[in-house]
Amino acid sequence: MMKRLSLRICSLFVFCGMFGYLSAQDNLENRIEKMLSKMTLRQKIGQMNQVNARKPDGKLYQQIRNGEVGSILNAEDPVLLNQLQKAAVDSSQLGIPLLFARDVIHGFKTIFPIPLGQAASFNPEIVEEGARVAAVEASENGIRWTFAPMMDISRDPRWGRIAESFGEDTYLSEVMAVAMVKGFQGKDLSDPSSIAACAKHFIGYGAVEGGRDYNISNIPERQLRNVYLPPFERSIQEAGCATIMTSFNSNNGIPPSASKFLLTDLLRKEWKFDGVVVSDWASVSIMVTQGFCEDKKEAAKKAANAGLEIEMVSGCFIDHLEQLVKEGAVSEETINNAVRNILRLKYKLGLFDNPYTDLRPERKIYAAEHLKAAKKAAEESFVLLKNEQDILPLGNDIKTVAVIGPLADAPHDQMGTWCFDGEKEYTQTPLEALKKQFGKNVNFIYEQTLAFSRDKDKTKFPKAIEAALKSDVILLFVGEESILSGEAHSLAGLDLVGAQSELLSELSKTGKPIVTVIMAGRPLTIAKELDLSDAVLYAWHPGTMGGPALAGILFGKSYPSGKLPVTIPRYVGQIPLYYSHEKIGRPAKKNEVLLDDIPSEAKQSSLGNTSYYLDAGFDALFDFGYGLSYTTFEYSDLTLSKDILSKDEVLQVSVALKNTGKREGCEVVQLYTSDIAASIAPLVKELKDFKRVTLKPGEQQVVTFDLPIQKLAFWNYEMKKVVEPGKFDVMVGGNSVDLLTRRFTVK
Ligand code: NOJ
Repeated sequence: MMKRLSLRICSLFVFCGMFGYLSAQDNLENRIEKMLSKMTLRQKIGQMNQVNARKPDGKLYQQIRNGEVGSILNAEDPVLLNQLQKAAVDSSQLGIPLLFARDVIHGFKTIFPIPLGQAASFNPEIVEEGARVAAVEASENGIRWTFAPMMDISRDPRWGRIAESFGEDTYLSEVMAVAMVKGFQGKDLSDPSSIAACAKHFIGYGAVEGGRDYNISNIPERQLRNVYLPPFERSIQEAGCATIMTSFNSNNGIPPSASKFLLTDLLRKEWKFDGVVVSDWASVSIMVTQGFCEDKKEAAKKAANAGLEIEMVSGCFIDHLEQLVKEGAVSEETINNAVRNILRLKYKLGLFDNPYTDLRPERKIYAAEHLKAAKKAAEESFVLLKNEQDILPLGNDIKTVAVIGPLADAPHDQMGTWCFDGEKEYTQTPLEALKKQFGKNVNFIYEQTLAFSRDKDKTKFPKAIEAALKSDVILLFVGEESILSGEAHSLAGLDLVGAQSELLSELSKTGKPIVTVIMAGRPLTIAKELDLSDAVLYAWHPGTMGGPALAGILFGKSYPSGKLPVTIPRYVGQIPLYYSHEKIGRPAKKNEVLLDDIPSEAKQSSLGNTSYYLDAGFDALFDFGYGLSYTTFEYSDLTLSKDILSKDEVLQVSVALKNTGKREGCEVVQLYTSDIAASIAPLVKELKDFKRVTLKPGEQQVVTFDLPIQKLAFWNYEMKKVVEPGKFDVMVGGNSVDLLTRRFTVK
């Protein structure tokens, strides 16, 4: 150790002497080159090898001592991590530290709402704070790299991983992805509480056919650039995201792990990315199954030559790259470039100077401020979909409440998918929180009735009905268990599973008011449940503090302010259904359901001549951006600073927002634009900005947005990113449908 230190100091002096002054960047690059010059080919390839260490054995320690492992995933005990690190630092020839990675997706121990729920907050601050909390807790355990955020644009709720996404919209995903990266990485990567983020999955994984996980996508380059790539680009350019993960799907027939276009031309040449590209779990070796490579050796060759740098778990690089270099099929310079990027990340994280995890006894997991942040995030993630006769919030007249359903007291399930480290013992459920917060004045009768969401056993229905009949209101907690969403959990049907829907039908026969709280990892088709309920609150999987957050909202200690980050369809058959689609020639005009109106033996005709389903019309159950509050808001006086602008100007868009109800509320004011005509069919609407505005009853505020005209740029017919002159509409409102509109012209 001492020897290495004095060597470094020496070399610093030599370089400073030679050039007089060296920037930190030059210094870093010098350290990288110096290390690289000492490495054997095998040791270099070792840095490109990521190993799964769920159960580390003697073989792994030997590989580490040989310098054949660069990073490790799935180990999280800090004592073990330090042991593995010691093998690398003290017993390998060059002492290059290991980097420990893990899927810290929406919290480490303190679990925040699933990312889809966080996106519903339309509040990047809570997303950044959540990621900061996760980084603080994970780094205490020695984890310095997370495989998050997932920023796949997700327009198919059948795809289980929609839960991990920020939903269907490009702009919202961009904003949330940037916030999450900033939270994970903190002010400086070298801070011991910073963890490197990973923008994933590059690219198109959310667009897999039919929502079937691991399937194929076919996204042409223009659409990639306009819709799918922007969150990645902004995460790198605005937040300095340190790493990128390639995806499992092949897009247009090419697996991203072997796409030179994506990994070299776009990422390195166009975006100047200087971080690290990692594969997904065995996404290199599966190229053999995908029929893209004959064997693992060819897979290693194609991936390395395309620009992939770390191979996760399938050993293709460590087993074949050396030989491939000897054969001249992969150049040593390709390997050198990869290793430069990997070493740079390790230097930036401060691992060479500080490789071990501090095992101090005072730790911040589940710290009071972490729980507070998780509760706030949960509160802001809830979306109120229906509130007939203002049944919510529940008032002082409520004396007895029937709490029913499989998710009222399900500490494991409310944490949601992709949650390795959250402990259900620390989760606070709605049942517990309701009793704790309001149990003095309110009698809560609890009937779980169904043991879990898929339970079909109806034998406990009579007890639920008995409880309902004794109560003033029913709080019904239904939805999905956490395991029904997430990776490899695609669904073909999106109705409530098990006997949940029947339970609601039976309860509705009691005539008691019903408040249905839905905890789920995705939009579910809940048209029937909506009709049978007086109020519906969509709570996603809200995490550790979901219970206290829900209890407070239901009884009016706080209020809902979330908006849908994704469309809720009426029927699975309508999918994909998303607001920001391309303009079509014959758009549906009204939501006609004509199936039963067609006479038998009807003559050939095109009926309404528009784009809709005979049996389902065309509209969604709830549109993107929708969400109610306990108060009402009125929008008026949409004004523009100018009607005609040049491309470099900024348009000021103002709208008057008034709280017309009786309670304080927070409204997410949304600004959309629409290009009237362009060189490619434009999108009907695109979210371009939003603001959360809190108003007291009767209060009015003028909300102003600065809209740089450059925000209207898109990849056009000639594959150039430009603002095309012409007419545009700007629209402002509380969801993607009910909007005030003004037109302006770009010269
Ligand atoms: C597979 C998943 O697709 C990816 O998102 C995750 O980070 C890796 N496994 C590692 O667990």
